[in-house]
Amino acid sequence: MEKTSIHGMWSSRMAFILAATGSAVGLGNIWRFPYMASDNGGGAFVLVYLACIALVGLPILMSEVLLGRHGRRSPVNALTDLVRDLGASKGWISIGWIGMVAGVLILSFYSVVAGWTLHYSWLYFSQLFGAPAITDPGATFSGLLGNPLELSAWHAVFMVLTVAVVALGVEKGLERAVRFLMPALFILLLTLVIYGATTGHLSEAAAFLFKPDWSQISGRTFIDAMGQAFFTLSLGMCTMMTYGAYLPKGVSIPQVGVTVALADTGVALLAGLAIFPIVISFGIDPQGGGPGLIFTSLPHAFNAMPFGIAYGLLFFALLSVAAWTSSISLMEPATAYLVERVGMTRRKAALLVAGICWIVGLATVFSFNIWSSVRVPEGMGVISNKNVMDMIEFVSNNLMLPLGGLLIALFAGWVVKKSLLKDELDTLSPGVLALWRWVVRVVAPLLVLAVLISPFVLD
Ligand code: PFF
Ligand code: NA
Repeated sequence: MEKTSIHGMWSSRMAFILAATGSAVGLGNIWRFPYMASDNGGGAFVLVYLACIALVGLPILMSEVLLGRHGRRSPVNALTDLVRDLGASKGWISIGWIGMVAGVLILSFYSVVAGWTLHYSWLYFSQLFGAPAITDPGATFSGLLGNPLELSAWHAVFMVLTVAVVALGVEKGLERAVRFLMPALFILLLTLVIYGATTGHLSEAAAFLFKPDWSQISGRTFIDAMGQAFFTLSLGMCTMMTYGAYLPKGVSIPQVGVTVALADTGVALLAGLAIFPIVISFGIDPQGGGPGLIFTSLPHAFNAMPFGIAYGLLFFALLSVAAWTSSISLMEPATAYLVERVGMTRRKAALLVAGICWIVGLATVFSFNIWSSVRVPEGMGVISNKNVMDMIEFVSNNLMLPLGGLLIALFAGWVVKKSLLKDELDTLSPGVLALWRWVVRVVAPLLVLAVLISPFVLD
């Protein structure tokens, strides 16, 4: 009989694709990717980012899913079983622990930013009923950031929404939600690209995004691109491993992996093509946009376009939903672990994890107001001048996720038996399997390692 997970199973291949795409597609694509590109000078960053997705992201994505499906338990326990069966070192179990800690750190700031999108949804919703328009987007955004009470309230609302779904178990609400909402988001972005074309700046935007200006490339480009690749594909913290645990046998892991990676990359590029024409046409500098980029640029377009209020509402509401399907997956590893290990109910476990994330998230909330002067001193290389939120992002996205990914690749490539890999990746031809294994053993680890140590050697 086939081994199944005590937490439930995805009802079909499609259900997994939707859930994994729901996890991947989120703020990382629409909020973070454009401003990372903006801060790193555009095209050169995008190219390095795409290389990271193909050479590191996709192979590790497949590794995570196959390890999860083989283990059928939450990461720490799945790895414990596997290490025991293989007679390997218990040290590998640390991958699961790194993942849970990274998940809490990421969710802590993710939820704060998702709170911004909720707030903007509310701003457009109330405009439908006569509230004043956002005439000065920069001022509106800094007004929000300057208000810790408002920030922590929206952060709380978003956490409650996340707990509500995780507590119910993932299959019910989620499968249904992503089935309609993800395509809707896609269409909305496409419309925004078409709008961007009417501004007459689409080709300039495309040039900024796709024509590499090699003079802009630095150590930081590689660090940011690698971090973004891990973050956007939800890799390195065992999220995809956890989702893989609920994946029925018989579904082709390479096929679903490619689908998820393509969908995620497509949405990111589309978001870039939607946002930069607007940025350029409203006279905003496309370089150095920072985390406020979409919040300070898009409202200009929504003010100018027909039905802009309804459109703005739809845009931010769908972005909130995209963030929601990602935050659910951020909570799942720790929640599943608590259920298995301590025998907590799903509901209690989810509440506990969310409570911790909310409290840790206050550090992000304060980094824009009462702690805004807390900065890493100059002369500290790539982390110079970062604020508290930047540092939390740096530690999770640029250190913990790549470290987790590196260990996952090494484990899948060197420790796991070839027969197990062959069994889980049975749709690959022997040649492709060998290629994949070589990438996971050698190429991906070397690339990640190079990027991982660079912050310590670069200035
Ligand atoms: N991939 C998500 C995004 O791009 O918004 C963020 C994320 C979700 C990161 C889940 C990590 C994770 F485990
Ligand atoms: Na993403």
